[in-house]
Amino acid sequence: MEELIHEKIELAKTLPSKYYLDEEIFRDIKNKISLMWHFSAHENQLSQNNIVPIKHSTKLMNEPIILTRDEVIKSLSNVCTHRGMIINTESTKSNVLKCKYHGRTYDLKGCMKNMPKFDNVVDFPDESDNLKCFSTIRWKGLLFTSLRKTSTPRWIEFLEDRMGWLNIESFVHDIEYYKSYKINANWALYVDNYLEGFHIPYVHSDLNEVLSYDDYETEIFEDGVLQIGIAKENEDSFDLPEISKDYGKKIAAYYFWIFPGLMLNFYPWGLSVNIVVPTSVDKTEIIYQRYIADPSLIGEGAGGDLDKVEREDQEIVEAVQIGISSSSYDRGRYSPTMERGVHHFHRILTNI
Ligand code: FES
Ligand SMILES: [Fe+2]
Repeated sequence: MEELIHEKIELAKTLPSKYYLDEEIFRDIKNKISLMWHFSAHENQLSQNNIVPIKHSTKLMNEPIILTRDEVIKSLSNVCTHRGMIINTESTKSNVLKCKYHGRTYDLKGCMKNMPKFDNVVDFPDESDNLKCFSTIRWKGLLFTSLRKTSTPRWIEFLEDRMGWLNIESFVHDIEYYKSYKINANWALYVDNYLEGFHIPYVHSDLNEVLSYDDYETEIFEDGVLQIGIAKENEDSFDLPEISKDYGKKIAAYYFWIFPGLMLNFYPWGLSVNIVVPTSVDKTEIIYQRYIADPSLIGEGAGGDLDKVEREDQEIVEAVQIGISSSSYDRGRYSPTMERGVHHFHRILTNI
């Protein structure tokens, strides 16, 4: 059977517009992606507190999740097993999780410890009274959670191979910085736009001043895409060690995208984590959090005015949402040199 998105980019047509417009397709995709690996936090967020609710997990995975730090970090359900109250809404330092509704308590492993007025309840407590525990993996201080019991994703190897030299574990969470942008477009349009540097000279005049357009690189890996922005003369770049694969290059930014909507953008100042949350078929929320390596470099180079770049992208993506709704548009073609990342994304999306 011929695939919807042809393997050969030179022959392929882009994603049909129904993928951005159809409610049923949206719901089906959203259900499937809710079960995948999602970024939850940097372990630095658990250095002061040992109970940290993950704000975006309900929107992304349809599951309120809380991270707890005991001997190890766990991803637990944040839903009380009594009558379903959300247990913690704020980060805190405590050895017990206590439900505000009727006072049930749990330890940091999620085991129910105490419940008032339950003395004569038969077969209580049993396993189902403990909090559910989900799969967690850690890569260089970054924590990922999956609702399914599933093996370590292959993209971790790619990240390690490329960024293993960087001391991401020591990055510090910027508590003050949590941005949420709401846009009137389908989430996949936002991802499409992220996955090509093709539009930079047309859309981002300031960014174009610091990046060398002709040297922009795109690499494909399993369930992800890496784009590398090369700095122009005199612009900020990484001081790469010899063990880095890119040693000798003047790199301004590493842009990693991991299916479905995780963006790990590394700049000389640190890491910007952007999470794309599909809200409805034509509404998306983008959450920005950041982790600092060197505060003196914030505001410089390709990772400088991220707010402006974000606004420029949103304007385009919202206009495209209107464009693809028109009866005169269904599918386009790809640039084999500039749109390999978009092509890869569309192939993953149509095969999940
Ligand atoms: S819902 Fe949590 S103790 Fe009742
Ligand atoms: Fe952009």
